[in-house]
Amino acid sequence: MPHKKQVEFNIALVGGGFMAKAHSNAYHTIPYIYNKSNYHINLDSLSAATIEEATDAAQRYSFTNAYAGFGEAVSKGSINIVDICAADFIHKDIAVAALAHGKHVLCEKPLANSLADAKAMYEAAVRAGTKTMCGFNYRFVPAVRLAKTLLERGIMGRIYTFNGAYNQDSGAFDDIPLERLWYAYGSKASGVSYGIGSHIIDMARFLVGEIATVSGLMKIYTKERPSSKGPQKVMKEEEMLALVEFSNEASGMIKASAMAAGRKNQLTFEISCSKGSLSFDLEEPNYLNVFLKDSPVTQVSGFTKVNVTQIDREHPFMDVWWPRGHGIGWEHAHINEIAHFLDCVANNKDIEPYGATFKDGLRAIEIIEAIRLSEQSKSKVEVNIY
Ligand SMILES: NC(=O)c1ccc[n+]([C@@H]2O[C@H](COP(=O)([O-])OP(=O)(O)OC[C@H]3O[C@@H](n4cnc5c(N)ncnc54)[C@H](O)[C@@H]3O)[C@@H](O)[C@H]2O)c1
Repeated sequence: MPHKKQVEFNIALVGGGFMAKAHSNAYHTIPYIYNKSNYHINLDSLSAATIEEATDAAQRYSFTNAYAGFGEAVSKGSINIVDICAADFIHKDIAVAALAHGKHVLCEKPLANSLADAKAMYEAAVRAGTKTMCGFNYRFVPAVRLAKTLLERGIMGRIYTFNGAYNQDSGAFDDIPLERLWYAYGSKASGVSYGIGSHIIDMARFLVGEIATVSGLMKIYTKERPSSKGPQKVMKEEEMLALVEFSNEASGMIKASAMAAGRKNQLTFEISCSKGSLSFDLEEPNYLNVFLKDSPVTQVSGFTKVNVTQIDREHPFMDVWWPRGHGIGWEHAHINEIAHFLDCVANNKDIEPYGATFKDGLRAIEIIEAIRLSEQSKSKVEVNIY
């Protein structure tokens, strides 16, 4: 057997919550699922806002060291990868510090919670020249990648429209206290546009192309919510809506909502093209619905619900997972995503076009801010590209 080059990844994970769990799961899983016996993934440090949280998470996910705050971990000489799973508002400080120390950086989406921070991060990434990736994990769902392949190969023809939404219902019940609403609680919350709007904007750009203009709305339907301090005003948008024009003359409708009663975590799109259509729904993540106008049997013309788990049909990512028909779920997209990041670091490959770069993270925020400007000015706005 040829000897594989050994690769050392020394990881500093920043954050001890939901995403820290998803990313830790990926580091534990990648060497055996992706068959990378030459990967030595050393889970060196886990940092969180308090030492108690960091110690607890470090023990749970098998990291050697725990730190309060990110400074010590990201400056350590032995660390080569900083993985940012901390709250949005602190992404910029962590990334800029890590990049100044020459680290490769994976940062969860949204890249930042302001345009200014996102620009600073992009500039720091360019200066550092290391591998930098923004965590738009849905690019790594096999059915989404198959959609991308069909579009790239011209099988769907010219794209006319993208109709996409990220729907949740965390705000759809009036009695839910403000403290339980991730998008609206606290001065650092950045609304549904940054939290889930960034995902659907990235999906539109990934599959269709650059967004040139937007006509948008940022809606707050419930003016007041109960809270432990009594009724409080809702200050951040509960829904973002936009009509968009792409540079390639396709059109689109984009929505991100916390008010979509019944929808827990649905990312969905339908793309209408000259040769057919594609549709996807994260509530059924193993399927891509495909309609091709040119069917050999005219009587059975209609959408085909393709089970995207078939390695013998060259379905993306399925060579590492289970035999055909054995589905995968939400966490596997994170594993596929982080495997891509490690592969790019190990073999000096480009993160793009399949992974999202810091530039993609910045673009999503430029588009969100253009939608906000459109809402304020009640007019169509051209997206400013940095
Ligand atoms: N890609 C996805 O599917 C997805 C899903 C949810 C959240 N996210 C993103 O992932 C990131 C983390 O979200 P989460 O849901 O895990 O949040 P969380 O609230 O569960 O965890 C946030 C963590 O940030 C840490 N933190 C805050 N300040 C810190 C500091 N100064 N130094 C070190 N750590 C600090 C906290 O201790 C906490 O552990 C956010 O940017 C969020 O938008 C991505």
